[in-house]
Amino acid sequence: MSDLKERAANVLAPALAYHTEISVENAKGLIIEATDGKKYIDFCSGLATTNLGHLPPTVVKAVEKQLKRFIHSGCIFYYDSVVELAERLAKKAPGDIGMFFFSNSGAEAVEGAIKLARFHTGRQGIIAFTGSFHGRTMGAATLTASSSKYRKSYHPLLPSVYHAPYPYCYRCPVGQKEGECENECLGRIDEIFESLITPGEVACIIIEPILGEGGYSVPPSAYMQKLRELCTNHGIMLIADEVQTGMGRTGKWFAMEHYEVVPDIITLGKGIASGFPLSAVASSKAIMGNWTVGMHGTTFGGNPISCAAAVAVIDTIEKDKLLKNVEKVSAYAIERLKGMMDKHKMIGDVRGKGFMIGIELVKKDKKPDATATVKMLKACEDRGLLIVECGKYKNVVRLMPPMTTTEEEMRQALDIFEDAFTDIE
Ligand SMILES: Cc1ncc(COP(=O)(O)O)c(C=O)c1O
Repeated sequence: MSDLKERAANVLAPALAYHTEISVENAKGLIIEATDGKKYIDFCSGLATTNLGHLPPTVVKAVEKQLKRFIHSGCIFYYDSVVELAERLAKKAPGDIGMFFFSNSGAEAVEGAIKLARFHTGRQGIIAFTGSFHGRTMGAATLTASSSKYRKSYHPLLPSVYHAPYPYCYRCPVGQKEGECENECLGRIDEIFESLITPGEVACIIIEPILGEGGYSVPPSAYMQKLRELCTNHGIMLIADEVQTGMGRTGKWFAMEHYEVVPDIITLGKGIASGFPLSAVASSKAIMGNWTVGMHGTTFGGNPISCAAAVAVIDTIEKDKLLKNVEKVSAYAIERLKGMMDKHKMIGDVRGKGFMIGIELVKKDKKPDATATVKMLKACEDRGLLIVECGKYKNVVRLMPPMTTTEEEMRQALDIFEDAFTDIE
């Protein structure tokens, strides 16, 4: 056991699990250097967060500049970085979304979003999806249904929250064949309306545009479009939880753009400031503009340094054409991974958008292979590549490198990934 790990075990709550045993000395770009001198290619990006890699020079510069001015406002005074960030995001956001409430974590943004939906509609009901992950606070944990482990011991959770099956097409929740269905799983929402809560009592439906923690599954566009229609028909707020998918990770500013769907409310977090704590609830003026004074608040949310970092992130994504880079390098990666499926039969599925790439490892009968997944992560780590898993069955390897990753760097990482099969087959 490393010295740091031993000290941590003594003073840090064991509830928070670390994915590896590595202690890091420093990190730059795609590479992290451990205290023992070993270097690793970081394909985890601090859980899809350091979207520009470690210590991006443009962000460091913007933060240094802000640090020399002031570091906190606590809503006592106005400051430029938060307003500039909101103005810049408004230009990127879909439809008429152009108003923001900034907070610190993804879970906080989710809490804000459901409060806004309840406030705006005057209704209480919430529909979320099995397989989804929305955070650890009580409200967010109630919506989360990627594992009962996250809810265990905390009941009773928030009342009037119902779950419909996420359109996880590789393992269709209603027994349809991938690519041949009529989005039958959407019918489960009608069943909720028939048996559990009338649509007129539902404030919002919250969905991850691409399932994150739950298995990196991409729903069919038609599903998302029909969900939009259903929400519009019943006056229900459609919330897109873009905490993981947003800010360019999928090759578009917002993953909902892939489906040409404009939600009513969006949550952002993780990559928004490439590692500085920041999150946001976003909506239109028509909705958020009526959220009256005092109906929500924060001490740290929209921190001046985090906002300066986020503005620099947007600048860099634009200037370095990183959305295009993600699209191009992702296409190369997905094609190469699909090409591995013939040789490595344990790859059951390769899917994703941009730099949210999932590789589902299975046994002969398509049963999830969590054991092989653990071995794969270890084999990659031994070879100097850091990756983590996701999925209800912990059998999906997820690749979430920074948006700056080049094709050559992706090739190196996939060479390691392919070589790692020799340890587990
Ligand atoms: C889609 C989604 N929403 C919300 C969260 C919660 O974010 P945080 O851990 O910053 O509270 C996460 C975290 O993984 C997430 O992936």
